[in-house]
Amino acid sequence: MASSTIHILNGPNLNRLGLREPGIYGGFTLADIEAKARERAIERGFKTVFRQSSRESDLVDWLHEAADSAGVVLNAAAYTHTSIALHDAIRSIEAPVVEVHLSNVFAREAFRHHSTISPVARGVICGFGAESYLLAIDAIAGLTAKNRKRV
Ligand code: DQA
Repeated sequence: MASSTIHILNGPNLNRLGLREPGIYGGFTLADIEAKARERAIERGFKTVFRQSSRESDLVDWLHEAADSAGVVLNAAAYTHTSIALHDAIRSIEAPVVEVHLSNVFAREAFRHHSTISPVARGVICGFGAESYLLAIDAIAGLTAKNRKRV
């Protein structure tokens, strides 16, 4: 039976949301995003595991833990632009990974235009603030519904 858990993983500095550059990231906190994401996931019939770490190795371990989940919503923050370890971790698991960003990274500095994750992600959503996470949950719910129909 398909797993009904969506893992929502957050990288470095996202624990500072609310205080950190509110002009770019908005005034809401990571706890606000967690609450909205949990609510949306419940509406779609999923449970959530929501985590944040500023350590790359935690994100790698958590991707492995999510291997058989319904999907992963991953905001790898700055590691998006540098991490081959996260690229390889995504390739090592079956679950679809949706890369998300609060800001539109393509409207920002050139170093944010490159992602090591995008080529191995199922899809990418950026620029919608906290809504990016909710859209990613909808996308994973849609993939799971398709899989169920195929069976
Ligand atoms: C971010 C964008 C990244 O470039 C940045 O390093 C972050 C947050 C976003 O959600 O917009 O920390 O992932």
